[in-house]
Amino acid sequence: MNAASAADVQRTFAAVDLVALRGNVRLLTEHYGQICAVVKADAYGHGLVPCARAAVSGGAVAIAVATPAEGQLLRGCGLQTAIHVLSPAEPLAARLCVHQHLTPYVSSTAFLDAFLDAGGKAEDCFLMLDSGMGREGLLMPDALAALAQSKTPLRFGGIATHLASADAPDDTSQKAQYATFIKDIQALIGIGAASDSTVISINNSAGMLSDNATTPLRNPILHRPGALIYGIAPHPTISFPTTPILTWRARIHIIKTLPPGHAVGYGATFVTQRDSRIATVGVGYADGYPRRVSQETSVLVRGQHARICGVVSMDQLQVDVTDIPDASEGDWVTLIGHEGKASITVATLASWADVPVQWPTSGLSPRVPRRYTGLE
Ligand SMILES: Cc1ncc(COP(=O)(O)O)c(C=O)c1O
Repeated sequence: MNAASAADVQRTFAAVDLVALRGNVRLLTEHYGQICAVVKADAYGHGLVPCARAAVSGGAVAIAVATPAEGQLLRGCGLQTAIHVLSPAEPLAARLCVHQHLTPYVSSTAFLDAFLDAGGKAEDCFLMLDSGMGREGLLMPDALAALAQSKTPLRFGGIATHLASADAPDDTSQKAQYATFIKDIQALIGIGAASDSTVISINNSAGMLSDNATTPLRNPILHRPGALIYGIAPHPTISFPTTPILTWRARIHIIKTLPPGHAVGYGATFVTQRDSRIATVGVGYADGYPRRVSQETSVLVRGQHARICGVVSMDQLQVDVTDIPDASEGDWVTLIGHEGKASITVATLASWADVPVQWPTSGLSPRVPRRYTGLE
């Protein structure tokens, strides 16, 4: 008898639909204009290289990563498109950015100096301004001081900022950040450090969809969506019809009938109230399933929601399938995705785990094999 192949014995896998990713980028481009597709952190867990390629063929004019190393990896795979590096980088990484033709978002004068010293030009990078988030970006007075100290006039390839609360539609800080950023751009235009043809980049997914996303500036706008290109709604009340690209499934390994009063899982946080069929599914927090989830959390078993009982273990989780009599050992269950009319979105799992919508896929561990459709 032949030995079973690795695929036969897989306990869990994540299917990634690159055709849907391409379609999402195309749709966003048609509605909102130029897109820099955010593929940092292994494309939020979906796979850096295949997702970057799919985003480019869907029409993204640029790709955004967090670190120069991620950019280098993409260049090594032959990606020719502009690669933006969003997070502040060590000045030591400036030379790598220059050699790999990466476009860093400059958040410190130390990095700017190192980038220019390494032969980079201001037009090859974006000036990142802190318009109110207090994370990356130069404060405007520091940016003005850097410009004043420069021996040669600096004209950046683009000017960017990042929104802190675009995914909270009622929050007023987005409006305030917009106002600050617009004022800063006008000031930079006033001193000749930018013009009305300088590219500006403000919006993440939620920012793009928000009513507050308006500017009187004539500058070309480059949006930076992450969540949306993967079909993840940034907030339940601000959605756009992109298609989810990920399905995450795992197999039921054993089903046991437990009598009433029997504990399930570490810490005995769940105790059966009736004769219960408890299925043990081969996926756990070491695969990236959130360890802490609310009591309503479920997976789909034969097209029906089955609640998780007890705590999620490292390699397994357990669900109550008492009311799903057909459920059998060896069944595939769905953690994210749909079965018939029932579905669990990434955003739903995020809300059960009380984490940001970007979390569940970004946390998918390398132990979960990715299966791609639509690979180029
Ligand atoms: C600077 C920056 N721009 C854009 C994004 C994309 O955000 P989202 O996934 O909400 O679209 C991120 C994500 O964290 C980011 O850090």
